[in-house]
Amino acid sequence: MICFIKPLGRFGETTGKFRSERRGLHLLVAVLVILSGMARAVDKSNFKKCDQSGFCKRNRRIQPGSSPYAADLDSARLENGVLHLNVLNTQTGILLKLELYALQNQMVRMKINEVSPLKPRYEVPDVLVAEPEVASWQLGEKSESVLEGSHGNAMSFVLTAQPFRLDILYDGQLVTRVNSRGLMNFEHLRTKKNVDPPQDENEEEKKEEEGEEQEEEVADDSEIEDEKADGMWEETFKTHHDSKPNGPSAVAMDFTFPGYEHLYGIPEHADTLALKTTKSDEPYRLYNLDVFEYDLDSRMALYGSVPLMLAHNSDRTVGLFWLNAAETWIDITSNTADKSMFGRMMDYVKGDQEVPEMNTHWISESGIIDVFFLMGPKPYDIFSQYASLTGLPYMPPMFALGYHQCRWNYNDEEDVKTVDEKFDEHDIPYDVIWLDIEHTNGKRYMTWDKHKFPNPIEMQNNIASKGRKMVTIVDPHIKQDNGYHLYKEAKDQDYFIRNKDNNEFQGWCWPGSSSYPDFTREDVRAWWASKMSPELYEGSTHNLFTWNDMNEPSVFNGPEVTMHKDAKHAGGWEHRDVHNIYGFYVHRATAEGQIARTDGRERPFVLSRAFFAGSQRYGAIWTGDNAAEWSHLKASLPMCLSISIAGIPFIGADVGGFFKNPDTELLTRWYQAGAYQPFFRAHAHLDTKRREPWLYPEENTAVIRTAIRNRYALLPYWYTLFYQASQTGVPPMRPMWVEFPEDSKTFAMEDQYMIGSSLLVRPITDAGATSVSVYLPGQNTTSMVRHTVVKEETRWYRMDTFDKMTGPTQVSLSVSLTTVPVFQRGGSILPTKERVRRCSSLGAGDPYTLKIALDAQGSAVGQLYTDDGHTYNFQKGQYIYRQFEFKDNKLISKNLAPVSEYNSKSWLERVVIIGLSESPNHVSLISQGGNTQSLEFGYSVQRVLSIRKPAINIAEDFEISLT
Ligand code: NOJ
Repeated sequence: MICFIKPLGRFGETTGKFRSERRGLHLLVAVLVILSGMARAVDKSNFKKCDQSGFCKRNRRIQPGSSPYAADLDSARLENGVLHLNVLNTQTGILLKLELYALQNQMVRMKINEVSPLKPRYEVPDVLVAEPEVASWQLGEKSESVLEGSHGNAMSFVLTAQPFRLDILYDGQLVTRVNSRGLMNFEHLRTKKNVDPPQDENEEEKKEEEGEEQEEEVADDSEIEDEKADGMWEETFKTHHDSKPNGPSAVAMDFTFPGYEHLYGIPEHADTLALKTTKSDEPYRLYNLDVFEYDLDSRMALYGSVPLMLAHNSDRTVGLFWLNAAETWIDITSNTADKSMFGRMMDYVKGDQEVPEMNTHWISESGIIDVFFLMGPKPYDIFSQYASLTGLPYMPPMFALGYHQCRWNYNDEEDVKTVDEKFDEHDIPYDVIWLDIEHTNGKRYMTWDKHKFPNPIEMQNNIASKGRKMVTIVDPHIKQDNGYHLYKEAKDQDYFIRNKDNNEFQGWCWPGSSSYPDFTREDVRAWWASKMSPELYEGSTHNLFTWNDMNEPSVFNGPEVTMHKDAKHAGGWEHRDVHNIYGFYVHRATAEGQIARTDGRERPFVLSRAFFAGSQRYGAIWTGDNAAEWSHLKASLPMCLSISIAGIPFIGADVGGFFKNPDTELLTRWYQAGAYQPFFRAHAHLDTKRREPWLYPEENTAVIRTAIRNRYALLPYWYTLFYQASQTGVPPMRPMWVEFPEDSKTFAMEDQYMIGSSLLVRPITDAGATSVSVYLPGQNTTSMVRHTVVKEETRWYRMDTFDKMTGPTQVSLSVSLTTVPVFQRGGSILPTKERVRRCSSLGAGDPYTLKIALDAQGSAVGQLYTDDGHTYNFQKGQYIYRQFEFKDNKLISKNLAPVSEYNSKSWLERVVIIGLSESPNHVSLISQGGNTQSLEFGYSVQRVLSIRKPAINIAEDFEISLT
């Protein structure tokens, strides 16, 4: 039933082919939408389980035990600091080469490939920003069975020859064991066995002439049957046949994290933040897919993949990055969590205390084993280590951090104008209005429907005249139509992916029959990028930005709604090899085009649905087609957190839920939550009712208005955090344990999180909530002022009431519809802008308010970063970066920028000091030249001091002292 709804819901509304049948279809769609509203859920039968995928099944059935792989220690040699040695599969006689690198920045890399593969195996390009810098190993004593090596005093390894096993240590502590469970499997490339030896002599001769005779081994029937059953040489899923011309090519390895009970990362899944064991479930799957109405609490694949896993305990955090762009499955087991009740009881009775450990088993369909071990030891170190490999997040323009208004679809220019005006009428700020696929001429991207959008430039200019921006959707499926310039050019230049028979790959998507440019090619990306210029994208301006959707790629009539794995890319690679990186390349080409259209002056903004490791360099990501349900609002937190800690910090979920109609309370709560997620955009499906903020009872509109305004007030803080992320890799949206790494109570927490180090947010995600429980950590925290781990009470102040609470504590707050539980951490200083504007650019020169929340010592610290908000001039030093520190009753502002050449008009309007035990008698400002002036202030019963109008330029050094 449901699978029937999808094609109709999608094609019926959108393809020209079906236009004549529209009326009938509308009716049918309406009926189906009503029915589907009653029973919505993903049709799981459209997507593979592990045992429906040959390579996953083959590898998952390997049981822990003795590995057939043996390292040849005699072959070990150190070349430029890198250890090289051979590893033999003692069952097949196939020889593999292993390279082990100690890397700068406390990382280890291990690569394994065949010594002489029949043809090259895919090694993922373009994800690593540079060849990681090698730090040399020193080899230790070698015995017959063990080889040891170390780098400095910290990183070392112990390599056991037979069975092959590698232990990686840091500070003498075992961090990760490799192949200790014997699950390593490297399927070498081979020739296909043939059941029937050639019958006729002529044919045999012909084959000999063609040199084919060595390529075919004769096998007995049972072997052939086994291979068939295992899907080694071909596989059929539903009606889709995968020809597998290269046969089996999977790679697999087990990694164990001793001493750990919590793992995170490997997005994208609609699942908990702390990963679950998969002992009696499906493995986590990484395979970029367009999943219609995805399920929650699921290990099923979704739109994006980052094969990065973090393991955390109260001593340290470590990471594992598996650089492979093919379909990947990951099993997780735990010696403690997987134990039966009885087993646990027995342990208790016997007094056994087993060291907990997490076992992981990684299986990819093709490529090589290329894995990085990140040693931490603290969460911040992991972020910077991972960023040193795959790149720092890009610095978004300020408008991108504002509020985005989207729906499928704003129908025409009049609609856009009205929505834009209504925001002003209702005094609600917003920065960007979005156009979905219906704005195009028949889903030909980078064109306009001339009837609905006759004057796109004028429309964009009108929006831009208010300081706002527009976004249009540009998907990578190109309508097969010789009259469509993008199609014609790409076809003429042979830019499209080919199918297994070497013809242009053809798939169904929104426009009907479509082709897909091969974005893995640099020349194709350059061509696409050139199309972002207003000269070539007709009707576009520099104020128009881009949304790349369906770039998994989505192919409605393909296997699992994506491209056939035997489709062909440049260089002879199969789609199988590059699948998970396709969307990354689309995103990249679009972002590079936006940068190029202003000759590198302006920063881009591109939202993408598919992603891979490294996508952080190109723009924002959202969590795709969620639903207007409380459970989806709740799930948006762990989903965003997982993506955020996997290196992609600019992440958000559709506010309101994409499918279905949210009730008023849900929509209101979703705005309150979304305002505290990095990417803040409301979006809705074509079939849903209009839901702009003013269409609700005034009470709710007011709450939504406040939520959006609060987002704008915090923009200086968000912008500072994004700048810091672009320098260090530390994401703005952080799980609690990132800030409180020693507090095990936080390790599985996902209903509250931190924004930077200073704000704790606990969004309300339950219908009718009248109270909410929040955990405020407090022991062994890192002092924000002294940067050391201190045992002291941590103070927290409610942002709305200034109530002080002392951690560690679990508090229950009573809440009303207007409550958003947000706490400022004692010891922090938040830069804010309190004046209400229509959009971020209009507030560019507005004055700042500093919110100082004092710690137990009466101190606090915080930073402010600002620049022009949209160009790359900050890379030439045109920015302001300041640190504010409050200590001993003095607030001091000092410059953190090496050269500060940016002149801001903004001045300091107010300083609010929260948690000050008594009112000062006098407050004075000492400015740069030494001038001293008295300042007005007020002190309230809540112990809040408000200092009015220091009126000093924010770029200047100053001191405010309380006496
Ligand atoms: C799927 C996207 O996830 C959704 O956000 C969009 O509205 C539709 N495609 C139509 O473009």
